[in-house]
Amino acid sequence: MRKKFVAGNWKMFTHAAAARQLASAVAHGLGNDKRVSVAVCPPFPYLSAVAEALKGGSVALGAQNCYHEKEGAFTGEVSPAMLVDVGCRYVILGHSERRQKLGESDAFINRKVHAALAAGLEVILCLGETLEERQSHRTETVLETQLNGSLAGIEANSLRRVVLAYEPVWAIGTGQNATPQQAQDAHAFLRGKIRARFGEETASALPIQYGGSVKPDNAAILFAQPDVDGGLIGGASLNADSFLAIVRAALGEPAA
Ligand code: PGA
Repeated sequence: MRKKFVAGNWKMFTHAAAARQLASAVAHGLGNDKRVSVAVCPPFPYLSAVAEALKGGSVALGAQNCYHEKEGAFTGEVSPAMLVDVGCRYVILGHSERRQKLGESDAFINRKVHAALAAGLEVILCLGETLEERQSHRTETVLETQLNGSLAGIEANSLRRVVLAYEPVWAIGTGQNATPQQAQDAHAFLRGKIRARFGEETASALPIQYGGSVKPDNAAILFAQPDVDGGLIGGASLNADSFLAIVRAALGEPAA
């Protein structure tokens, strides 16, 4: 059985003291529980402080983006090696906010996926359709295009260090989550595409998170779907109690 994986995407929120405090509270709340994988992804400036706060515990550190070059004259960019250097295990790539607001294409994301994997990071690759795409019945086409484009040239053995996050754009930060069935259908579709390209073993080992308005009161039912292996949590990850309640839901325990 796949282990559930819950990651907090703090986006462009917190400040130094708040980031340290939130990370400590999450680390303390999880303790040494290894039944679920948990990560937090703070903004770049707080990665080191959060790494310090997580030391010795079971919560892993992730970043929210990286550039595809190792080093060089790329003002403002951060390399995968730098993320490893400050203690990151994960990097989120292809988030819809970056696709939409910063114009990231699948080809650009693909270069970052290659670079991140080569540097030893694990990639949380986000995919998802807009409301307009869903309403015009293009969800599967969009997901397939994003999947193929972002994972072009990736071999099955590298896919062991990739996690997919299905995040319908219309559900992100809106309070309107996908229904458990909508999530399950999209996840099963994505897993089917992975199966067709990489085989059963790789497909059945691949964690697929759901993201988009996951809260303590809807997490359990979403995570109970057979192809939903945890969540990528935005808003609700900014509060230790609600994030930990979602982690408990991933364990099948009561949220309260
Ligand atoms: P949300 O964000 O939980 O606030 O909807 C999820 C995400 O963007 O990863």
